[in-house]
Amino acid sequence: MKAMVLPGIGQPLAMESWADWTETADHVVVDLRAAALNHRDVWISKGQYAGLRFPIILGSDGAGYYGDREVIINPSMAWGDDSRCQGSGYHILGLPQHGTFAEKVAVPRENILDKPSHLSFAEAAALPLAGLTAYRALFTQGELMAGERVLINGIGGGVALFALQFALAVGATVYVTSGSAEKIERAQALGAEGGISYREEEWGKLLVKNAGGGFDLVIDSAGGAGFGQLLRAANPGGRIVVYGGTQGAITNLSPQLLFWKQLQIIGSTMGTSAEFAAMVKFVTLHQIRPIIDQEYSLAEANLALARMDDGAQFGKIVLKISS
Ligand SMILES: NC(=O)c1ccc[n+]([C@@H]2O[C@H](COP(=O)([O-])OP(=O)(O)OC[C@H]3O[C@@H](n4cnc5c(N)ncnc54)[C@H](OP(=O)(O)O)[C@@H]3O)[C@@H](O)[C@H]2O)c1
Repeated sequence: MKAMVLPGIGQPLAMESWADWTETADHVVVDLRAAALNHRDVWISKGQYAGLRFPIILGSDGAGYYGDREVIINPSMAWGDDSRCQGSGYHILGLPQHGTFAEKVAVPRENILDKPSHLSFAEAAALPLAGLTAYRALFTQGELMAGERVLINGIGGGVALFALQFALAVGATVYVTSGSAEKIERAQALGAEGGISYREEEWGKLLVKNAGGGFDLVIDSAGGAGFGQLLRAANPGGRIVVYGGTQGAITNLSPQLLFWKQLQIIGSTMGTSAEFAAMVKFVTLHQIRPIIDQEYSLAEANLALARMDDGAQFGKIVLKISS
């Protein structure tokens, strides 16, 4: 099989011929038709991820054929018995286990599910990691209820856009932030009520004023110096769910705001097999289609990684894989 392989930190992916995976009692081999990128792939290629090993085939997301069955892959592996958090054996497809930037991938038998029939292979490949993360962050950790007001910080990202689509599907009112006015407009076209640039000074206060109120649930993947604005935007008793740290350490968290508003800050990572199955069912029920930013061929994976690193994308970046 052909695979795009990362030879080491900071090096471009190289197209290589590898021996095909063989099916075992526990593992199936999926003939991939599409894969998708996550920010994780950029972190790994820059050496900014735990447990690095080389050479590695990156890629957590994929969809394709198992025999003549159309399947999508759950990239969340060996979660363990405690639904509150993953166990020590937990890992994500695409490091340490070889991933989906290849013609074939071997995954545990229980990690394939039927592809929702309303999705193309490219759309299905866009769904798994980001859809699962958004689902757990919103519903399990964030306990989102219909009619609540939600703020999604940094709407251009893959997970953030699923959070928007999922929250709208259950009848929440959603506002967004972005570094780009155009991305806010695109989010509004998808159903967001409004938004603000996270580059504005004191945007948290301003957004509450403009939006006629604060937010019951805030979803964040940035952390960093802007995190304090999330506390300002949250309603008293609100929840802030954090699933990423793109902007690094949180540097200005006001304990006074935290305790006076009785806020909860909750971490969230990926999700269980049950959450993955529930997410796929939810997407099927609401006929949700992932937003695809751009499609590349497998051989163009370096261009795709550069686009993600650039931050210009709106939605998922997909690699199409021919048979
Ligand atoms: N815990 C988990 O299970 C999990 C799962 C998936 C991802 N993550 C992490 O979550 C982060 C996003 O992942 P992704 O794959 O969705 O990445 P992505 O598609 O590359 O998106 C990057 C996101 O960062 C936002 N952003 C950049 N600067 C920002 C700032 N100063 N303030 C607020 N938002 C800012 C962007 O918003 P705009 O483009 O709108 O400006 C965009 O939403 C990464 O750190 C990733 O490692 C964690």
